Amino acid sequence: MEYKKYYRKTSLKQKGVGSFFLEEVLEKKPKTFLEIGVFHGVTARNVCELLFKIHGNNFNYIGLDLFEESDENKNEVIPNTTFSSNPVKQFYYKYIKRQNPYSLEAVEELLAKFKNNIHLIKGNSNKVLKKIDMSKIDYVFLDGGHEYNTVLNDLNCCHEVIINNGTVLCDDYDLEQAPGVKQAIDEFVDKNDFNCSIVCDDRFAKIEKIELSII
Ligand SMILES: C[S@@+](CC[C@H](N)C(=O)[O-])C[C@H]1O[C@@H](n2cnc3c(N)ncnc32)[C@H](O)[C@@H]1O
Repeated sequence: MEYKKYYRKTSLKQKGVGSFFLEEVLEKKPKTFLEIGVFHGVTARNVCELLFKIHGNNFNYIGLDLFEESDENKNEVIPNTTFSSNPVKQFYYKYIKRQNPYSLEAVEELLAKFKNNIHLIKGNSNKVLKKIDMSKIDYVFLDGGHEYNTVLNDLNCCHEVIINNGTVLCDDYDLEQAPGVKQAIDEFVDKNDFNCSIVCDDRFAKIEKIELSII
């Protein structure tokens, strides 16, 4: 399954990783998908295209991101949002498109064909997730803040999704530059006795409820 990049940046750029991710989503066929950490919206668009193929218009995508580098967000880990190493893309966004691809407006535009299915939220997951009704969500892609406390907060907020037989797929499980991700996931899984599969060369941690088989 092809993961397209839409002339933007994405954390799933490594060869084969985006396709692996989409296969994982396809296997579960979720109807209400939450992405924590939308960035330029590339994964969001790929997910919406896939869910549209599966369900037609009968799906929802919720995307949450800070969508801004500010003093208030200075403690959060935000990847380089510009195209500093690609002058052509930098020129395109600055002078032709005249748009910051890391903005709510730009992501809304990228997802315009799914405008009735999407809900984009600008805010910090440490505050916003507590206000979202998680009972309707059946798949979470957790790829927002990479600090231990933020990952643990996000996971705790997703507890209900797992209990309701949903899936939480976490990116960057074994990333050297962000050891707090692995630490938070391992603690959360141990404490709640959930099943955790580490897949795609240690890239993703897939957290689900343990299936109890009746003998
Ligand atoms: C690695 S990028 C996400 C990439 C995206 N999922 C993709 O597949 O292309 C992480 C994003 O999380 C956002 N982020 C960091 N801390 C956050 C927080 N506490 N709440 C919400 N978003 C956060 C950053 O602004 C950034 O856009």
